Amino acid sequence: MHPDVKEILFDEDQIAARVAELGRQISEDYAGQEVLVVCVLNGAMPFTADLLRKLDGQVCLDTIAASSYGSGTISSGTVKITKELKTDIVGRNVLLVDDVFDTGLTMSLLVQTLQARGAKSVKSCVFLDKTARHSVAYRPDYVGYEIPDAFVIGYGLDYNEQYRQLPYVGIIKPEAVR
Ligand code: IMP
Ligand code: MG
Repeated sequence: MHPDVKEILFDEDQIAARVAELGRQISEDYAGQEVLVVCVLNGAMPFTADLLRKLDGQVCLDTIAASSYGSGTISSGTVKITKELKTDIVGRNVLLVDDVFDTGLTMSLLVQTLQARGAKSVKSCVFLDKTARHSVAYRPDYVGYEIPDAFVIGYGLDYNEQYRQLPYVGIIKPEAVR
């Protein structure tokens, strides 16, 4: 275990099993329909790569990056897209994939933005959901695990751009947070 990790929440085997379940569920829900998987960079890279390989049917892949600015507790704000899609999403089924749904601001604004561009459908899949931290009414369509309000790292999740490479999800030690 990495010395900056206090506790492992989900190990590699648990993650693989849950991702396979999500893949089965998503494949069933989109049966007979094409889906454009959109990985929200950088945090969702490992999750998207694993999930993608558990999807059946006609699947395309694109990436987007965003940073959200809101006023904390107020459920409004704007999302700045810092890396655009390459795909024209008009008439497409879009599945946004992110690492964690925290306040929910980033995901809810991305969903609204892509819906406004004329997608046929826009759904979301997040690996982790911090239910106690939600500040928007929007809820993700697919959730890997609900977690308590703690700062987690690994499996794509970072603290100061570090720890994304850890194969498990863990809670960071307070002394590692500066
Ligand atoms: P939201 O807009 O508040 O839902 O923020 C979501 C983004 O905040 C995620 O995509 C992460 O980049 C970041 N984030 C929130 N909680 C954590 C955490 O516990 N560890 C690492 N990143 C986090
Ligand atoms: Mg992120």
